[in-house]
Amino acid sequence: MNKSLPADFSARIAQFDWYQQIPLGNGQLTPGEDNFTESKLPMLQLPEGLSGRSVLDIGCSEGFFGREAERRGAARVLGIDKADHLVEKNALLSEITGSQMIYADKTVYDLDPAHDGIFDLVIFLSVFQHLDHPFRAIDVISKVTSMTAIMEIPVVVAKENDAEFQSEPYSIMRRSKKGRRIFLPNEPMFFEMLSDAGFTAVDRITRHRAREVPGYGARFRQERLILHAHKHETSRL
Ligand SMILES: C[S@@+](CC[C@H](N)C(=O)[O-])C[C@H]1O[C@@H](n2cnc3c(N)ncnc32)[C@H](O)[C@@H]1O
Repeated sequence: MNKSLPADFSARIAQFDWYQQIPLGNGQLTPGEDNFTESKLPMLQLPEGLSGRSVLDIGCSEGFFGREAERRGAARVLGIDKADHLVEKNALLSEITGSQMIYADKTVYDLDPAHDGIFDLVIFLSVFQHLDHPFRAIDVISKVTSMTAIMEIPVVVAKENDAEFQSEPYSIMRRSKKGRRIFLPNEPMFFEMLSDAGFTAVDRITRHRAREVPGYGARFRQERLILHAHKHETSRL
């Protein structure tokens, strides 16, 4: 049964716009646009038991996935994002739920194993398409991952049954509505990026959210690829 939040907490939740629907521990959720408990989470194959593990959620927004890892037993969770308006929201969520997830306002490029440590599990969902330096980011992610990274990456897929396009590394560049360049690799190209960065094995989980690529209508579509990239063949999460 839902137990209402103290009035003070309800008022503080209501002062923000929310993106993710975050469980508040009493059956209530933050009033976000996306309920990832029902949509993205079931697709990820996030390990059920993360007892004692260290987890990094890159581009965590309000921290839904990092907090879910904590709920599954993770001992140390760091969430980072580059939007400073998230500092207050993440602090409020930790105050309400008692979560120990640490939130840091920094970009993927700022991550430094000497300062931040390395993590058994890295979560990197739906951030790649926002990056100006995608190759650099994948290198950094490899450096802070000790075992496995769970990623969601927009990829380009040939509409026709184009054997060469499917098996050879390709990429296209599209523009966002604001004119920003968006780099879209195909799957073989992204697997090469992972391998060059030091990941040794990949479990391809699924693709979802097919949509048109503006300007490339006849030949390509865009989909989101979900995968687990492993640093070592034998020790995987
Ligand atoms: C579409 S949201 C995805 C949020 C969350 N990972 C999820 O799947 O719900 C993209 C997030 O990436 C963050 N982001 C964009 N560029 C980043 C960067 N260079 N370093 C860290 N986070 C970044 C944005 O601020 C935003 O919160």
